[in-house]
Amino acid sequence: MTEKDFVPVPYPHFSENGRVTWKAPSNIALVKYWGKLAHQIPANPSISFTLDACATTTSVSYQKKETKTDSFSFKLLFEGKPKEDFKPKIETFFNRVVEYVPFLKDYHFTIETSNSFPHSSGIASSASGMAALSLCLMDIEKQLNPAMDEEFFKKKASFLARLGSGSACRSIEGDLIQWGEHPQIPNSSNLFGIKYPFEVNPVFKNYHDTILLVHKGQKQVSSTVGHDLMHGHPYAQNRFHQAYDNLDKLKPIFAEGDLEEFIKVVESEALTLHAMMMTSMPYFILMKPDTLEIINKIWAYRSQTKVPICFTLDAGANVHVLYPESVKEKAIQFIQDELVAHCEKGHYLCDRIGTGAKKIINRN
Ligand code: DP6
Repeated sequence: MTEKDFVPVPYPHFSENGRVTWKAPSNIALVKYWGKLAHQIPANPSISFTLDACATTTSVSYQKKETKTDSFSFKLLFEGKPKEDFKPKIETFFNRVVEYVPFLKDYHFTIETSNSFPHSSGIASSASGMAALSLCLMDIEKQLNPAMDEEFFKKKASFLARLGSGSACRSIEGDLIQWGEHPQIPNSSNLFGIKYPFEVNPVFKNYHDTILLVHKGQKQVSSTVGHDLMHGHPYAQNRFHQAYDNLDKLKPIFAEGDLEEFIKVVESEALTLHAMMMTSMPYFILMKPDTLEIINKIWAYRSQTKVPICFTLDAGANVHVLYPESVKEKAIQFIQDELVAHCEKGHYLCDRIGTGAKKIINRN
């Protein structure tokens, strides 16, 4: 498929007004997307677990404009209150996607959004937020073109979400989503995420992710800036190759449920991501002392107990602790006894692998 396949033909139907609501989850990458080309094309393929509890719910109400104008008209409410500082991000997103959802200029929109996780948790909501908003736009498009099939609906939602935030394209479906062309992965695409097409051992079907909130403040460097610093980065090409290789390595690991090898790939990916930040120019560090304390404690605990618990990191100081259902009690005990002390105000979130976004039926 190419970008052109997502440009609609004139819509056969018309809708004066309406309201749609979607809830989309966050996701945690196992092989990381870090570095991109123009139009949100990833420099390397990635794969993630879709999460369940950490999610954004977005409602979009639309009302036909009296006269069509050449600009976007929308109001934004975050947790029930107007939120001016989110508006430029939405405006940029609308500009990127208007070619694919041309009805954006025909309506006035009210976008109401809220997160399941606390506002001050330092958890990025761009993946779940852009996924939920894209699903709302697709739901409106489906009312204008009811013949659209379910598969195209999801693909285009992922395609639009990617244009909002790359990792958001992996937040439409569950439970293991791959994004970015890879020669060994059939139907893989730079334009949207796909369900991982190979065998996955049941051990990965109910994995847990306990998110340790080490630092809840604003990050000093945004992901967008970080991606940009991969241009001209001395290790960029090797890193991109490594991501392709890690996806190859994961194929038998997922099939066989080989947790020892899974842990090696996942922890190495997390540390490589942060190594790329530390070797950018300008260089930066997003980990905090407590991030390293937690990593060391996980390593010590794992070598003593052989419990297959590991970590990954996103572009921040928080630590995602990953473990299978079979060791849940032990893992939670260990987290409470040893790791929570390193969290800001002792805060952490318990999440697990999830099945993807859901439409919420409006009651009005
Ligand atoms: C480290 O998707 O947030 O979480 O496309 O600029 O919005 P933009 O970046 P974003 O980057 C995510 C980076 C990451 C790794 C990953 O999720 O694969």
